[in-house]
Amino acid sequence: MIRHLLSGADLDAATATRILDTAAEMATVAGREVKKLPALRGRTVVNLFYEDSTRTRISFEAAAKRLSADVINFSAKGSSVAKGESLKDTALTLQAMGADAVVVRHPASGAANRLAEWVDGSVVNAGDGTHEHPTQALLDAYTMRSRLGRLAGLSVAVVGDVLHSRVARSNVLLLSTLGAKVTLVGPPTLIPVDWATRAATANTAGQAPDISVCYDLDAVLPTSDVVMMLRVQRERMSDSYFPSAREYARRYGLDGQRMRRLPEHAIVMHPGPMNRGMEITPEVADSARSTIVEQVTNGVSVRMAVLYLLLGGNNA
Ligand code: NCD
Repeated sequence: MIRHLLSGADLDAATATRILDTAAEMATVAGREVKKLPALRGRTVVNLFYEDSTRTRISFEAAAKRLSADVINFSAKGSSVAKGESLKDTALTLQAMGADAVVVRHPASGAANRLAEWVDGSVVNAGDGTHEHPTQALLDAYTMRSRLGRLAGLSVAVVGDVLHSRVARSNVLLLSTLGAKVTLVGPPTLIPVDWATRAATANTAGQAPDISVCYDLDAVLPTSDVVMMLRVQRERMSDSYFPSAREYARRYGLDGQRMRRLPEHAIVMHPGPMNRGMEITPEVADSARSTIVEQVTNGVSVRMAVLYLLLGGNNA
């Protein structure tokens, strides 16, 4: 088993499948009256959050507690970070306290990788800047597999603010490893240039591209098994990437009319938090096709599996 989970690229198909299978076993615990396993008793998991989070932080906390680990929640607000303490000094403090795993969310891309150089325990990247969010990709893959029965060969459209999305990056890496076909959809200003070029080059070279890019949402809907809507991340935008919110919603928002163009079995996903009325309408978000609440539930099982396997729960 790997020691850290920093990127979707850390996982080969066998390891990713093992995590998803373990998560399915963990999910049975959630159905019990006593939602606890003794697997990580006596181990310490630190949640180190330098950026706001609702779902991810609570989810990691619930996961660690269901495995009986001791959980320390550290949020940058109200700590010595506010006095200017560096990530390295904070890491050394955690190290001195004997953290077995550190779950980190940080606004700087690459922060989780740096942290992994400084601590002896396992580091789990819970989102670093616009870079990666691998447990989100795992819970998304888990949700697709449980709803649609497989991942290989699925057509997955990842729609919207791909440029600023660590969720999109981790999903592209993981889903291509697991054999799904990913199409990135959004305005040209919000598709990373290197990915657009990669998709175009692979096409001209006649090879099967691992990703494709399309700027027209309506064109991809009829052939998509999964539509993953992304939040427009205004807090990361230093410039104007589209004319107006209305114009964005008109071209790239998923509303009821567009949803009805999807194949009957297709599902709609969103990692949350949503901008209702911008990238997704309430009608779609609250529809039977939407897996948004399920994704949150699955997140706990997937994070249980990740912590359990990284910390050698079965001497993996
Ligand atoms: C995402 C994140 O924080 O990267 N949310 C999440 O973890 N559920 C996506 C987002 O902020 O839009």
